[in-house]
Amino acid sequence: MLFILVCIFSIIFIINWIQIQDVKNCFIEKFLNDENIEKNKLEDILLSNRKPRLDKSIFFHETSCSSDLYIKLNARQACAIESAALMNPNFDIFVLFATPTYFPLNYHNDYINNTNNHILNALLKYNNIYLRNVNIWKYSENTPIYEWLKNGDLFKSKFLLSHTSDFLRYLTLWKWGGIYLDMDVIVKKSFDNITLNFAGAESNIVVAAGVLSFDSKSFGHEIADLCLRNFQITFNGNDWGNNGPGVITRVLQEICKTKSTLLMTKERCFGFHVYPQNKFYAIKWKNWEHFFMEKHLNDVLNQTKNSIAIHVWNKHSAVKIIKKQELNVAYTKLAEQYCPRVYESSGEYF
Ligand SMILES: *[C@@H]1O[C@H](CO)[C@@H](O)[C@H](O)[C@H]1NC(C)=O
Ligand SMILES: *[C@@H]1O[C@H](CO)[C@@H](O)[C@H](O)[C@H]1NC(C)=O
Ligand SMILES: *[C@@H]1O[C@H](CO)[C@@H](O)[C@H](O)[C@H]1NC(C)=O
Repeated sequence: MLFILVCIFSIIFIINWIQIQDVKNCFIEKFLNDENIEKNKLEDILLSNRKPRLDKSIFFHETSCSSDLYIKLNARQACAIESAALMNPNFDIFVLFATPTYFPLNYHNDYINNTNNHILNALLKYNNIYLRNVNIWKYSENTPIYEWLKNGDLFKSKFLLSHTSDFLRYLTLWKWGGIYLDMDVIVKKSFDNITLNFAGAESNIVVAAGVLSFDSKSFGHEIADLCLRNFQITFNGNDWGNNGPGVITRVLQEICKTKSTLLMTKERCFGFHVYPQNKFYAIKWKNWEHFFMEKHLNDVLNQTKNSIAIHVWNKHSAVKIIKKQELNVAYTKLAEQYCPRVYESSGEYF
């Protein structure tokens, strides 16, 4: 009996171990013995000559683990990137891929006429957009979270992609300062005159992590440091929100000595600014469908009138495909205005 139990547990352990190795492999650099492909590899952010300028960069992280190696950005993700670049010519926009990523094989030579390339072309018309690879181990070296990464808890997460993205956003801002944005936002305004060190409230008790800013040197960097430490102490791979919004919310509760996001004023938070809901999350996630409903068009545009960026809740809204000709809805109106090239190049659907 005992023997059977030991066998069963061993098998479970081995299967678990194999699965962890599998997902870990996503993030490992590969060298394909093929010059043609290798020359299309995105530069590594740490090896590139063009590094992010401290405090003058906007970052996006793409963490999905795809079996093929090529850049995959759908129209909505590209829209977020374009809107950031268009509204912020004075910032560098870094799009960081956590798994080894390549330009499409013939991208630089023969033109492949598919939607995905049109979208990529639209983005690369901006000279402030940089696409880079990130090797999460090298990226974490000499940071407060390297030892934790090596222990492997991250790779046991039930929400690996989300949690890797959470991990990387805090780490990136710790390293370079600047602004992190989720890939499901539309940026409406320039960040030129917005002082770094901010986040946005999503409700009276939650500070969201879809828009985050820390500076690289002063108090912002200290908060980034606290976030990295809180991340590893409280990490929970079974809870989607614990390691992203959870981290910044807990850290700010501690710093500002209050649980209410309404009371997290600059005065209480040593200069850190928690913007009210309408600046980044004007449409609550429960109302995500309003972005796709003609009858809510004016209402959404009105509610987002004073937004700096608009979060569109891809976690829920990804399933809704818009046929452009048929629908006159807020999402397409905003996209037309704030990511015109991507919108134009995305074909019949958005
Ligand atoms: C590529 O696609 C664009 C837009 O769909 C079209 O205008 C163009 O003619 C196509 N080019 C080729 C070479 O097929
Ligand atoms: C930022 O402020 C400066 C000085 O007041 C002003 O000239 C500039 O137009 C502002 N930039 C934006 C994007 O609002
Ligand atoms: C726009 O929203 C504000 C409140 O956010 C409301 O008072 C106003 O009536 C709305 N305007 C329109 C035209 O819906």
